[in-house]
Amino acid sequence: MAAAALSSLLLFLSLLFVSSVLGGNFYQDFEITWGSGRGKILNNGDLLTLSLDRGSGSGFQSKNVYLYGKIDMQLKLVPGNSAGTVTTYYLKSQGSTWDEIDFEFLGNLSGDPYTLHTNVYTQGKGDREQQFHLWFDPTANFHTYSILWNPQGIIFSVDGTPIREFKNHESSGVLFPKNQPMRLYSSLWNADDWATRGGLVKTDWSRAPFTASYRNFNADVCVWSAGKSSCSSGAHVGGRGWLSENLDITRQQRMKWVQRNYMVYNYCTDAKRFPQGYPPECALNTAA
Ligand SMILES: *[C@@H]1O[C@H](CO)[C@@H](O)[C@H](O)[C@H]1NC(C)=O
Repeated sequence: MAAAALSSLLLFLSLLFVSSVLGGNFYQDFEITWGSGRGKILNNGDLLTLSLDRGSGSGFQSKNVYLYGKIDMQLKLVPGNSAGTVTTYYLKSQGSTWDEIDFEFLGNLSGDPYTLHTNVYTQGKGDREQQFHLWFDPTANFHTYSILWNPQGIIFSVDGTPIREFKNHESSGVLFPKNQPMRLYSSLWNADDWATRGGLVKTDWSRAPFTASYRNFNADVCVWSAGKSSCSSGAHVGGRGWLSENLDITRQQRMKWVQRNYMVYNYCTDAKRFPQGYPPECALNTAA
């Protein structure tokens, strides 16, 4: 009796151990690529921090490249006066006609909101910025920022709430990222020449080093390697996996709520920028 209980406890513990090992480890999934020691992997791979001072920022990238994926990361952004700092978190392919899916967090003065900047590049062309403020203080706690990229479209989410969708409108002639594998990158750097109110607010270096933290990387992805794609088990699951996921009505309504209340810039309504008419996807995307 006691032995059976003990062995099931041991089985349970070993399953816990295995799943925590599989559930993302920064040593295993990423490498710090620049910043001469300003980027650090801590707590046995559970935590990563980037820092920025006058000398340099820092950054990391995924070891793997992905062709489609559902990627979650928890970030806690630079607190206090973060004006002039930019934290990036994005997917990008190689070459001059690259594809890219961007989250960028533009710091601000203490008490003023961060701007969450998003963009999508297809074959080297972006110009699809949408910006948001957040409904919480992104520096007080960790929050989850997710990219779902599958053949149906790209969905940006914050704590599970979709904020932006870039649908696959190839059938209407809009290019969509679908055959260039992308790597995940992140960096913390100084952009006070443009980031905060167009460069008017400068970085306060007396508050350096600035630090952003990362944890709980979770990737349901198709890893691209040697010309072959291998997808995680959650990709299909009876035709309902992440590879075919799209927004149901409830989540579309959530997204519209965010866009009505928190969107602060939308390229699709910036008439000055597009005197010849808006890009074609503007008329096609829900609430874009
Ligand atoms: C900073 O705060 C101001 C005032 O609320 C706001 O207008 C601006 O969009 C914020 N973000 C940036 C990056 O300046």
